[in-house]
Amino acid sequence: MSELVRCVDVARVYGRGRRSVVALHDISCAVAAGDAIAVTGPSGSGKTTLLHLLAGLDEPTAGEVRRAEARAGMVFQGDSLVPSLDALENVALPLLIAGRGEQEARREGMRALESVGVSELAWRLPQELSGGQAQRVALARVLAERPDLVLADEPTGRVDSERALQIADLLAELARTGVAVVVATHDEAIAARLPGRWEMRDGTLRVATPQDRPC
Ligand SMILES: Nc1ncnc2c1ncn2[C@@H]1O[C@H](COP(=O)(O)OP(=O)(O)OP(=O)(O)O)[C@@H](O)[C@H]1O
Ligand SMILES: [Mg+2]
Repeated sequence: MSELVRCVDVARVYGRGRRSVVALHDISCAVAAGDAIAVTGPSGSGKTTLLHLLAGLDEPTAGEVRRAEARAGMVFQGDSLVPSLDALENVALPLLIAGRGEQEARREGMRALESVGVSELAWRLPQELSGGQAQRVALARVLAERPDLVLADEPTGRVDSERALQIADLLAELARTGVAVVVATHDEAIAARLPGRWEMRDGTLRVATPQDRPC
């Protein structure tokens, strides 16, 4: 399996001096095509920080994050939809930016909305969506781009439990097609649907299953 991203002795410290926070330290891990990894751990243990580093949205303060040429898509923990655009426009926007034609972008966007079960909400503005519906639209926006690596930060935090399991299964299925999937979650039931497990404690990582590749 081809490796998409590897962290080597990574640390991430926020701020400086007495007020600095060590969010991550001594992290070494790797993600390869087809991996489906749940990142679990208490609030503040560093899950979001690690996902942002893996996505290339942030840089480590020590160590190295090595990334292969691959498309990474991040599903953010908080609200991330553009408020003035409806759900379909939100999902189509990255495709338009990438140079796809409008019709194709809308068709692909609709397909992605369907895949997460919210195509009937295509014409709603973000403010007209529930928290869980908005999360699914944000996931669709990432899936529409057909990334090689999906980093999903609590993608089911505001979704009801049955729907949350469906989303977990969808992400596991995506991994079976060769996409790498890393999901931060507090929810044991979600984590159990994914074969790989990284457990975070106070900024360090304990690799709990053999699926991922300890370095
Ligand atoms: N921008 C920031 N500036 C300073 N400290 C930060 C910043 N972002 C995160 N932290 C701190 O870094 C640590 C790790 O935060 P992170 O958001 O990665 O945790 P998490 O595991 O995702 O938590 P949660 O489960 O609540 O989402 C925490 O102590 C947090 O307070
Ligand atoms: Mg977080």
